[in-house]
Amino acid sequence: MEKVFFIDATMRAGSRTRMIAGPLLEELGKRYEIETVKLDGAGFPAVGSRILQDRDNGIVPEEYAGMSRRIAAADRMVIAAPFWDMSFPSALKVFFENMSLFHITFDSDDRHCYGLCKCSKVLYITTRGMDIHTGDELEQATPYIKALSRLWGLGELYVVSAENLDYSSPAEIERKIADAIERGLRLCRDF
Ligand SMILES: Cc1cc2nc3c(=O)[nH]c(=O)nc-3n(C[C@H](O)[C@H](O)[C@H](O)COP(=O)(O)O)c2cc1C
Repeated sequence: MEKVFFIDATMRAGSRTRMIAGPLLEELGKRYEIETVKLDGAGFPAVGSRILQDRDNGIVPEEYAGMSRRIAAADRMVIAAPFWDMSFPSALKVFFENMSLFHITFDSDDRHCYGLCKCSKVLYITTRGMDIHTGDELEQATPYIKALSRLWGLGELYVVSAENLDYSSPAEIERKIADAIERGLRLCRDF
């Protein structure tokens, strides 16, 4: 069975992003084996001098190297992350830093860097408080994920989002979440 690597960067109890992600992963679970990493409370360390020195000495915790290898071997990636400070929660960036390993997710020759991941499609699920749409210059999450996808070789990025949720009525929020699930399910049936 092909594999999905699911990065759950939702943080709040009752997360609206998770409400959208749940049914989509259920749909994907019919065709894929899903490995989930839940970032809230996982405690991945910010990469600094100590970790860089270890890496220079060839030391990477096996737990992280193993996960990075599984990411590189996955057929699809799904990321669920709320829109925070015009991007995504820093826990997700820290996770990417820990997983971004030379000779595992990417490599280079004497001229350029290239990705080593097998994945060909990435699904990014998000909800935003303000009325900011995917691709807006104030939306700095998808440009980053696209760039990382280029570095690691993850393939095409698909986005399912709901916007303006902090300024919508409960009924509007419910409708927007239902619409996002509907759009996401259509995508997932052919993902
Ligand atoms: C720490 C934090 C930072 C946020 N920053 C932004 C922001 O910069 N722009 C925005 O549109 N919404 C922002 N929001 C609102 C969230 O994007 C919005 O409420 C979203 O639906 C939360 O997703 P969740 O229900 O999955 O947690 C922020 C919320 C939190 C808690």
